[in-house]
Amino acid sequence: MEIALADWLNLIFRWLHLITGIAWIGTSFYFIFLDLSLRKRRQLPPGVGGEAWNVHSGGFYLMQKYTVAPEQLPDELHWFKYEAYFTFLSGFALMSVIYYWGAESFLIDKEIADLSQFEAILMSIGFLAGGWIIYDILCRIPLFERNSLLLSVAVFILILLVAWGATNVFSGRAAFVHVGAVVGSIMVANVFFIIIPNQKVVVADLIAGRTPDPSLGQEAKQRSTHNNYLTLPVLLMMVSTHFPMIYGHEESWVVVALILIVGGIIRDYFNRMNAGAEGRILKWQWPSAALFMVLLILFISYDPRSLRLRGGIAPDVSEVLAITKARCSSCHASRPSDPDFDKAPGGVRLETVEDLRKFSDKIMKQAVLTRVMPLANRTKMTRAERDILGFWIRTGMPGDTKE
Ligand code: HEC
Repeated sequence: MEIALADWLNLIFRWLHLITGIAWIGTSFYFIFLDLSLRKRRQLPPGVGGEAWNVHSGGFYLMQKYTVAPEQLPDELHWFKYEAYFTFLSGFALMSVIYYWGAESFLIDKEIADLSQFEAILMSIGFLAGGWIIYDILCRIPLFERNSLLLSVAVFILILLVAWGATNVFSGRAAFVHVGAVVGSIMVANVFFIIIPNQKVVVADLIAGRTPDPSLGQEAKQRSTHNNYLTLPVLLMMVSTHFPMIYGHEESWVVVALILIVGGIIRDYFNRMNAGAEGRILKWQWPSAALFMVLLILFISYDPRSLRLRGGIAPDVSEVLAITKARCSSCHASRPSDPDFDKAPGGVRLETVEDLRKFSDKIMKQAVLTRVMPLANRTKMTRAERDILGFWIRTGMPGDTKE
């Protein structure tokens, strides 16, 4: 029953998170597009900086942007903010169900850090809050305030540090989700603490007949530019839990760096295209994003450790079988001895050499290139054992089949 409840909550919060996330990112994409596509082709009403014609759902829309605010505020004014807030709330709920409630299985990897459930949850919250606090401080350093490029580099490095730190305390899968969650939280906090409050001050000033402080708008613009460039990478980190090849790497900060670069470059392409750019300025992004993607694939596939193992002499098949019997077969057997399972999880039985051959691709992915398996490393598999397993698979799995 407990498992069923966790699964249902997982499903409901995930659904909600997807819906709110789509609504948030959807409106954000639209307004970025709108902002960049505004043109000043004719005499516009006072205060209007540009306009754009859109066609959608059977009608034509004339969008006009008042650079500061209209002389008189309309009675009905829609603020786009709840999409962001609910994306955070549903995401945090999802995180709590999977990684806090299920901390023993998904958040903690005893081989990496021997944390209690309480310690691990505290650390997770520390990452989320700490990420925002440090980011916010960075944005307020006068040098960075003046130099957006330098600030972006600092934020980039901060995210890599988060990746490095999370990989050293959480399971590989949780570490990656935490990078996504830290960045996502920064984006929501930008909306909650900076963009919306600044806008409110500007509106209040206008109503009172004061001239709004232009730095409020500049600050909001800087934060929303960060949000813009972080959107695509965050989406990949969030779905990374389905791809052990992405999240299991020991040098996860390199993987994160490449994802940030690829996502940022593609975002740049769309920003420039929306702004009406043509020609050479649009030609470099897709090829270089593809190049970095290939680098990412190569980096993840390359694992020099196991090939250097023991002077290149393949391990004996009985040694390999002894390892998997000790580390995998308590769950992956027709009758598992682990009390949490009554049949082999995922239909994967790992009891004979034949079984190992049959599932070798998956074993490589789950237990050698990454540390997804054994689940939460309950059977305390060592790095050396993973290397032996990997070496045996890479060298064609020699040995007697009848064993
Ligand atoms: C404590 C129990 C447990 C142990 C020990 C364990 N696994 Fe698993 N394994 C699972 C569970 C649960 C799943 C299903 C996970 C899922 O569907 O998300 C799974 C799934 C798998 C899969 C299938 C993944 C897929 O893509 O369908 C493979 C392969 C695998 N494990 C390999 C191993 C190997 C190799 C070991 C030993 C090094 C091992 N497991 C040890 C519990 C365990």
